[in-house]
Amino acid sequence: MAGKVISLLGLQWGDEGKGKVVDNIAKDISAAVRYQGGHNAGHTLIVEEKTMVFHLLPSAICHENIRCYLGRGVVVSLDALFEEIDDASEIIKGVEEKLVISPACSLIQPYHIKLDQLREKSNTSITIGTTGRGIGTAYEDRVGRRSIRAIDLFNESRLHNKLTEVLEYYNFLFVNSFGQEPIDFHELYDLNLVQAERLKPLIGNVGNEIKQLIEEEKSVLFEGAQGALLDVSLGTYPFVTSSNLIGGISSGVGISPTKIDYSLGIAKAYTTRVGQGPFPTELDNNIGEYLSKKGGEVGATTGRKRRCGWLDAVLLKHIVYLNGIDGICLTKIDVLDGLESIKVCTNYKSSHAIEDILESMILDEVEPIYTDFKGWNEPTYGLNRFEDLNSNARKYIAALEELCGVPIVMISTGPKREDTIIRDLI
Ligand code: IMP
Repeated sequence: MAGKVISLLGLQWGDEGKGKVVDNIAKDISAAVRYQGGHNAGHTLIVEEKTMVFHLLPSAICHENIRCYLGRGVVVSLDALFEEIDDASEIIKGVEEKLVISPACSLIQPYHIKLDQLREKSNTSITIGTTGRGIGTAYEDRVGRRSIRAIDLFNESRLHNKLTEVLEYYNFLFVNSFGQEPIDFHELYDLNLVQAERLKPLIGNVGNEIKQLIEEEKSVLFEGAQGALLDVSLGTYPFVTSSNLIGGISSGVGISPTKIDYSLGIAKAYTTRVGQGPFPTELDNNIGEYLSKKGGEVGATTGRKRRCGWLDAVLLKHIVYLNGIDGICLTKIDVLDGLESIKVCTNYKSSHAIEDILESMILDEVEPIYTDFKGWNEPTYGLNRFEDLNSNARKYIAALEELCGVPIVMISTGPKREDTIIRDLI
């Protein structure tokens, strides 16, 4: 991994266990970079018996000698950022010293959160089941060219003008469409100025620093938040988040897409989803309940119960191709311990060709066709050598490699850092 530029990405609808994988490889890397999303993400880590959840900070920040970056593609809530820094600082040393934030990041302001939540509650628009953190509304402002960016906080007259205009827009909506009180300009302006003071030392030229690190052949890790099926262009639109995943690295940091040496994808041995949207292999039965309970499938950001189902190899293969995945880390295989049989969706029954379904990602009318695999009683839980896996688990892994066309290079067998089998990671 030395000297490599690596992309790490969830291959399903998020919550694949990326935090733990980052944690495992972070000891070998010099820099970890977030390039999209915001504090909608939730990466859970268990280190030395302590559980840590990261939303906005790269989860690699708990390692020493690492630089952590928030690239221009990230939407930043300063409230959430400072709270997370304060929480993390109780356990990790030097959090602020390790962190660099691009001045070009769009900021999530209270009106983004308010509108996101009002829309989710209203009966008039499609409800997505968002995290309610103002992510989509902040990205709307970015493409609508009204964002207040981090750099605007250091120029009082520019901040004053931009905030005046943007609040006019939002307050019109709050008052006229939702019957709400308007947001007070002065209170918000003052809050931005206070936050600017704390933000200032964290601001740096992220694009340039990453360029230099790559030129010096240092290893750099791009941490995708959410999962590839939630990508705004490639995912299950409109039930997606509002950013681009692997395709967003280039624009979300300011580097050429040709710089990525290796793409590591993370997939759960089954599938979960939070929020609304199609989910062909969802199990609304006792097996779904079993996966949910045994896998502790509760959202790290919102505490919502995750929907559970079998692994969908049709979607996985497609996402592997779209994202140029070189190797997969299969997580939570231990959750399948004790099941008599395990199903994997290997085809869809539909009046449309699979290729056409995947182009539009309209999945509500497909019926999964499953291949059955024998389950296992010998636990995989806590194993860290491939040879120790029982033969049915190995057959399951080999079949997934065949179905997706890429090797499974890591297998996670439990929540702790050491519950990991590392095979042939670069
Ligand atoms: P938003 O990103 O808050 O706008 O939510 C849009 C969709 O993405 C909703 O279905 C969320 O549940 C989902 N989502 C956003 N972040 C995550 C995540 O980190 N894990 C899983 N789902 C997520």
